[in-house]
Amino acid sequence: MSIVAKKRCLAKPFLKWAGGKTQLLMEIDKRLSAELRDGQIDTYVEPFVGGGAVFFLIAQRYELIKRFYLFDINQDLVNCYNAIKNDVEELIEQLRTLEENFLRRKESEREKFYYRMREEFNHDRDFAKLIFLNKTCYNGLYRVNKKGDFNVPFGYYKKPTICDAKNLTNVSKLLQKADIICGDFEQSAGYIDEKTFVYFDPPYRPISRTASFTSYAKEDFDEESQVRLAKYCRRIDEKGAKFLLSNSDPKNEDPNERFFENEYKGFRIETVKASRAINCKASGRGRINELLITNYQGTFYV
Ligand SMILES: C[S@@+](CC[C@H](N)C(=O)[O-])C[C@H]1O[C@@H](n2cnc3c(N)ncnc32)[C@H](O)[C@@H]1O
Repeated sequence: MSIVAKKRCLAKPFLKWAGGKTQLLMEIDKRLSAELRDGQIDTYVEPFVGGGAVFFLIAQRYELIKRFYLFDINQDLVNCYNAIKNDVEELIEQLRTLEENFLRRKESEREKFYYRMREEFNHDRDFAKLIFLNKTCYNGLYRVNKKGDFNVPFGYYKKPTICDAKNLTNVSKLLQKADIICGDFEQSAGYIDEKTFVYFDPPYRPISRTASFTSYAKEDFDEESQVRLAKYCRRIDEKGAKFLLSNSDPKNEDPNERFFENEYKGFRIETVKASRAINCKASGRGRINELLITNYQGTFYV
């Protein structure tokens, strides 16, 4: 019998985040493991949480899960989750002030204000400013330069919602059951056992090999990291945990690519269609294939 609570999800992602899974959520939902639906899972781990779309779905639907462990290598992002968890009132107040300050200005003045906040954020790494920048920058991107400075340009939105107090309060309630930890995905190992469900949403594997060689940031997720992740999935499998992993399908570009078939041999690999709005390459726009990999078979809920 399924223990799925038919409640509406009240809390939703509070940031736009590259690779956000809202588009793929229905496909992921259909493929969650039977153990999760039947109440046999008591721990949920998400080693690349980003905007957390899948966490928000699962945490509000499967109430028998006792504990959530969310990881990300991005310190600014993790600080933001923890600020919402620990002192949402203070954060809401700061965001309200930023929203008022921004919306009362004319467009050219708003732009100047944005760049001033961006400069300040690069000195103080303040989480309210991070949310403000995310809501007002171009496309809600998070991008830093070599020095680690946030460098996304202004977004020119007419009336962005900067302070969604109701959602932030709901997110804060939900996060009381979660630990949000800054670190590499392998640090999640100590939290995983046979009653754990793990959802992996790593940065996409670069479509062209050269793209990974030209990248500069130390923590870039290169080919070696993708292989390290595949090995980690085998460790998780041996522990008896259930996992679901999403990634881009390299066959979108090269039908002969076999990276995932080789690295994830023995697991279930499914191809699903997803829409990607932003991609500079024409072949990456519109509906493209994504991979969903699981270490369980089973009847999926379609
Ligand atoms: C594709 S995004 C996750 C998107 C998320 N599922 C969502 O719905 O918004 C990948 C995330 O992995 C994080 N990341 C990159 N390298 C990592 C590593 N080695 N360990 C943990 N997190 C990492 C990035 O900071 C980013 O937030």
